Amino acid sequence: MATVHTGMTMSLDGFVADRRGSTARLSDPAASSGSEYMTALIQATGAVVMGKRSFAMAEDPDWFVGNYEFQVPIFVLTHTPAPAMPKQDEHLTFTFVTDGIASAIAKAKAAAGQRVVQVLGASVVQQVLRAGLADELHVDVAPVLLGAGLRLFDDPDLEGVALKKVGVQEVGEVASLRFLVVK
Ligand SMILES: NC(=O)c1ccc[n+]([C@@H]2O[C@H](COP(=O)([O-])OP(=O)(O)OC[C@H]3O[C@@H](n4cnc5c(N)ncnc54)[C@H](OP(=O)(O)O)[C@@H]3O)[C@@H](O)[C@H]2O)c1
Repeated sequence: MATVHTGMTMSLDGFVADRRGSTARLSDPAASSGSEYMTALIQATGAVVMGKRSFAMAEDPDWFVGNYEFQVPIFVLTHTPAPAMPKQDEHLTFTFVTDGIASAIAKAKAAAGQRVVQVLGASVVQQVLRAGLADELHVDVAPVLLGAGLRLFDDPDLEGVALKKVGVQEVGEVASLRFLVVK
């Protein structure tokens, strides 16, 4: 049975994108494509759930095949599916999910088999935590102060989520924090 991991790379002051929507200052070569850290993450991942805005970060939706780190089935939560289906291949497929987070997670778990479902996009991270559907929360904290931008945990309803620390790892300049979501 697949497990569900959620989380993102966050600045020390709590932002996952700067005021212009960029994540450039959060990236660290030690946690980027080709690194030991990313290679292990890619091997563990069987499916991805993301929000439409994270999907739209790629200017060309056909970019994902062959370029996105996770060449696996991708489930995009949206109210409005893309008018044309982006390029897909035998590894990376797209499913636009319009009936909510629980449906997206169920579909992604079925696709992931025994591997991990990665859930990302700030609003989607919040939803999966609120719904009690995440098994682990992973936050990679970059030593950067962005001052303003998009907060990862900007949701008062997250107050009830209980976490247990299971790991702290140094990845280059990043502190990678892992928590079990206590159910
Ligand atoms: N730091 C990192 O690790 C990292 C990684 C990835 C992305 N990012 C950044 O994160 C930002 C994206 O996060 P975000 O919170 O703004 O957006 P998001 O979670 O990626 O996407 C939000 C959008 O997804 C759709 N959606 C979400 N939940 C839905 C639901 N239950 N039912 C139907 N549609 C749903 C809606 O779009 P529609 O209504 O338009 O369909 C919603 O506006 C970007 O700025 C990106 O740069 C950071």
